[in-house]
Amino acid sequence: MSGTGNNFHNLPHEKKAGRYDRVYNQLQPLLQKTKDPIARMATIVSVLTHKFPDFFWCGYYRLVGEELIVGPYQGPLACQVLEKNKGVCWAGVNKKKSIVVPDVHAFPGHIACDSRSNSEIVIPCIDAKGNVFAILDIDSKDFNTFDNTDEYWLTKINSLI
Ligand code: SME
Repeated sequence: MSGTGNNFHNLPHEKKAGRYDRVYNQLQPLLQKTKDPIARMATIVSVLTHKFPDFFWCGYYRLVGEELIVGPYQGPLACQVLEKNKGVCWAGVNKKKSIVVPDVHAFPGHIACDSRSNSEIVIPCIDAKGNVFAILDIDSKDFNTFDNTDEYWLTKINSLI
């Protein structure tokens, strides 16, 4: 996928929001089948990657003790454990905030599991007690792919876990 043409980040705002709205409505009943968080993460990742073909890598890292360990994902082979307090995922976990990264090469400490990624978004999963238990990470081969529409909808989708 190149940086030109009908790529996801070139979709008009309403079209992108409409697609997320349909994905959210599809996921809601699907995620009622079980409360198991890993099954829910796997289901979310499957639906997202099928509905948004421009997602190059889409998956979760789970906070297990002091480590961020890869969970359900689709895309090329990824790092299984992320070096502590380094990179985008750990920054999102430590700040308990989503981070939109227009150019991963400009993000200090960015961990490149695959050198083809150029932009990224991370959205933490926060439980009822306010603790982070995982983080959703989506990568794109294009620069500037993600914006606050993605952040809004992906936060809403994460709340279904
Ligand atoms: N880029 C991430 C690592 C995970 S991969 O993108 C799948 C980071 O800097 O934390």
